[in-house]
Amino acid sequence: QTKRTTPAQIEAMKGTRPIVSLTAYTTPIARLLDPHCDLLLVGDSLGMVLYGMESTVGVTLEMMIAHGQGVMRGAKKACVIVDLPFGSYQESKEQAFRNAARILKETGCNGVKLEGGEEMAETVAFLTQRGVPVFGHIGLMPQLINTTGGYRSLGRSDKEADKIRRDAKAIADAGAFALVVEGTVEPLAREITQSIAIPTVGIGASAACDGQILVSDDMLGLFNDFKPRFVKHFAELAPTVSKAAEAYAAEVTARTFPGPEHTFQVKK
Ligand code: KIV
Ligand code: NA
Repeated sequence: QTKRTTPAQIEAMKGTRPIVSLTAYTTPIARLLDPHCDLLLVGDSLGMVLYGMESTVGVTLEMMIAHGQGVMRGAKKACVIVDLPFGSYQESKEQAFRNAARILKETGCNGVKLEGGEEMAETVAFLTQRGVPVFGHIGLMPQLINTTGGYRSLGRSDKEADKIRRDAKAIADAGAFALVVEGTVEPLAREITQSIAIPTVGIGASAACDGQILVSDDMLGLFNDFKPRFVKHFAELAPTVSKAAEAYAAEVTARTFPGPEHTFQVKK
């Protein structure tokens, strides 16, 4: 058994080489991605990607724990981080600890991720001081969709840039081991990366970050409801799946599947 990468090791990668990370939600995908990734994130994006929800707001702690357990069964060496879903940590630092502890105890994962800047800094400090490694997440925060109203890139205006700058510093100072920077313009992502001591992991935040993350189903060309500018398809799995289903349907209809080689016979 190879040893699993720890959050401390992810933090120490800053300035050495880019951190490679992807989302994973299930055992078989975790098994395939694990050899190539430093970190696997069980993201609450699973609500949209796997369950067809309109946003991540409806994702529950139980869903995150079930998928976290699945990913832990498939991943052997990557650091596995599970998202705290909307409503499981914003109420108080005590609520955040209680639910983060459930995730750690019930999945065996390495840490949790939560969205938020200055307003979450006290919570991040509370968790990290009590044994919960925290992956921060600033810039575009999908759980705020109902108040911020939209998935657009941020940091063009001075006001927006100042807020994101302060958020990055607050979460780094609070003890997070790394920080997702989402949907943020390149100059700001670069400035933040250079000014904080922990690694930035970008998604739609340029190559200036200390690492990158993408939603696996996006980069595999499997989830094509929309394709933001920052997504690159490293494969086109959707047509492969469609063609397989079409071929199966044709063979069942023609009674050419199952063939003799798929059929159990009784020896005479
Ligand atoms: O839920 C998710 O997949 C995420 C990443 C895209 C950072 O939070
Ligand atoms: Na997320």
